[in-house]
Amino acid sequence: MEVLMLTRTELGSLSVSNMAFGAMYLGTKTNHGTSMALLDTYLAAGGNFIDTADNYTFWVDGGKSGDSERLIGEWLANRGGRDKLVIATKVGARPTEEGAFLDKAEGLSYEAIILAAEMSLENLGTDYIDLYYAHVDDRTVPIEETLRAFDHLVRAGKVREIACSNYTAWRVEQARATSAAHGFASYVAIQHRHSFFKPAQGIKLGLADALGERGGHGVENVVGSELIDYVEAHPGFRIVAYSPLLQGGVADPNRLAKNYLTADNNKRRTVLEEIVAETGATANQIVLAWMMATRSAVIPLVAASKLNQLEENLKASKVILTAEQLDKLNEAA
Ligand SMILES: NC(=O)c1ccc[n+]([C@@H]2O[C@H](COP(=O)([O-])OP(=O)(O)OC[C@H]3O[C@@H](n4cnc5c(N)ncnc54)[C@H](OP(=O)(O)O)[C@@H]3O)[C@@H](O)[C@H]2O)c1
Repeated sequence: MEVLMLTRTELGSLSVSNMAFGAMYLGTKTNHGTSMALLDTYLAAGGNFIDTADNYTFWVDGGKSGDSERLIGEWLANRGGRDKLVIATKVGARPTEEGAFLDKAEGLSYEAIILAAEMSLENLGTDYIDLYYAHVDDRTVPIEETLRAFDHLVRAGKVREIACSNYTAWRVEQARATSAAHGFASYVAIQHRHSFFKPAQGIKLGLADALGERGGHGVENVVGSELIDYVEAHPGFRIVAYSPLLQGGVADPNRLAKNYLTADNNKRRTVLEEIVAETGATANQIVLAWMMATRSAVIPLVAASKLNQLEENLKASKVILTAEQLDKLNEAA
């Protein structure tokens, strides 16, 4: 594959590639050999922004929390070059009991965050985390307590930047205002579900729904107009867009989740297919290229279970859409 396809962009003080790579299923659904090869391929294409979480991937048969972090740790130990990589992990959604789900999540108390960070550092075999996310909001804990813990980790040199995931726009603002008031480190990004196709209106998507595995945690986690409005008013604050390919649903309409089977998405599909025919690029590549071209704040976070999928996705960074094509896609989206 052609080297250095991806370019760099700023995320707080970090310099990250314009497409992040999701390691959620590495070491569980995706076998060890393929997982290592996927990481090598992403790196060879100029990628440096690798995403995991402390709970990946406990919900897969035979999987445990920390499997993905440990696989990345092994890869880092073998390959070296830690300082050239941006490793993002998350805290807050790891079940504290065997067999439990998100109802028994560790949450975002001061103690839970400090403990989880040590576990993640050990799993990753590194002495710092580049980007540390609050995985899901925890409204049982005062936001000041959560941020005090993150700030402590930043001051201790164990974390470089902090961010949140699956937060509503008003909670992002509340968190950032709290950081400003106390002089704490502040969230530099939100990781949120975002694609060209949209779920049916009014449906509350949970983290578990987003993962496509289990139902109902009640978190509204699709990028919507409020969040877009927020990032546009706060230059430098980024959206890291997870599940941009809707876990195969962009490539294959038969793989779309049922809450994506709407008349609006059928219209979007027609427009997408027109652009596919005009450019010769694939539907996945068009969606990723559109996302990167439309809003500079958005960084797509893609995954793949096979090398040819990843190669296809990385080549999206070479697809150039005309102003007319972007207009059509924007109007449809
Ligand atoms: N913050 C959160 O709450 C949250 C939630 C979900 C995910 N994430 C993060 O976001 C990352 C990406 O999430 P995701 O896995 O949902 O993203 P995605 O990129 O939408 O889906 C990846 C899946 O799509 C299919 N795929 C990928 N490339 C393809 C191609 N070129 N052709 C056909 N199918 C293709 C593969 O499915 P098959 O393996 O079935 O072929 C692959 O496993 C995760 O690894 C994780 O790091 C975060």
